[in-house]
Amino acid sequence: MTSAERILGWLRDASAPLSGEELARRLGCSRTAVWKHVASLRRRGYVITAHHAQGYAIAGLPDRLGPAELAPHLTGSWRDVVWRSEIDSTQRLARERARAGAAEGTVVIAEAQTSGRGRLGRTWHSPAGMNVYATIVLRPPRPPGVVPQLALVAGLAVADAVRSVTRADARVKWPNDVLVGGRKIAGVLTEMEGEADRVRFVLVGIGVNVNADPATFPPEIAYSATSLRAVVGSPVDRAALTGALLAAMEARYGRYLAGGFTAIRPAFDAVAFLTDREVRVSGSGMAVAGRVIGVDDEGALRIACADGTEQRVIAGEVTLRDGRGG
Ligand code: BTN
Repeated sequence: MTSAERILGWLRDASAPLSGEELARRLGCSRTAVWKHVASLRRRGYVITAHHAQGYAIAGLPDRLGPAELAPHLTGSWRDVVWRSEIDSTQRLARERARAGAAEGTVVIAEAQTSGRGRLGRTWHSPAGMNVYATIVLRPPRPPGVVPQLALVAGLAVADAVRSVTRADARVKWPNDVLVGGRKIAGVLTEMEGEADRVRFVLVGIGVNVNADPATFPPEIAYSATSLRAVVGSPVDRAALTGALLAAMEARYGRYLAGGFTAIRPAFDAVAFLTDREVRVSGSGMAVAGRVIGVDDEGALRIACADGTEQRVIAGEVTLRDGRGG
């Protein structure tokens, strides 16, 4: 940690302003050196007031998702945050870190992605400083077959966080989308490495459209997607949302490890978007059409088909057939 970051931490934790003399004592340097560190923090966007008689205090944080800005919002045990102002994809760096042994709960966050990746080889629109782009490293002691369930767990955690921070009616659309008002505000991309019977790590990539203006969205998502800002009508605190997301993910994942998807299912059902809708699910050379009954204890989608049979779908792309959005 740099001297400037240590000063930031002390100012954040202090209930009253801290004098230059006190900060110099803690750092073991001169008051002039303290002043230079404070000046560098101000250049980075921190608003730090300095009263001659009282000392330094933080009056404003930059709109950034670095470890220092996130710290006040982190309530769980996942605190290992790797931050980049710009990156190709957080999935790439998280994979590199996971291969090098990064612990479960390590989070890679970027302000912008130049090659943000979505599911099925799509691009994830990732403009700078507006949204949340995060990849969480998980090491579930489970066989690879259950990894798709983690996308559902993550989608639920995103819905939890959006609901708690904005009060918007966030819904999870199986298998990996989060919608508000029938439009997509977030997506989850899970990737894994391991052997046939053992997961080495799973990368849970989460992209949330927070403050981006939907008018600037690329044409392919212009009608199907929106942002939280557009939904609630005012800017949303990205750091608070990210903190809530990590806390929700840690809690839901802990519950999932203890009790399997069965333990998550009631919460998933409560905010499920597809239940009772007419859909068509396609992928891997198959297509199933019918009315969604819900998800089962393994996280598979249950569909009641017109011929009276019930089909279980483990993975696929869902399109709505009843024209009710999404
Ligand atoms: C989808 O809905 O297609 C999934 C989108 C996942 C996007 C996130 S943003 C953070 C992480 N890094 C990426 O390149 N993709 C995921």
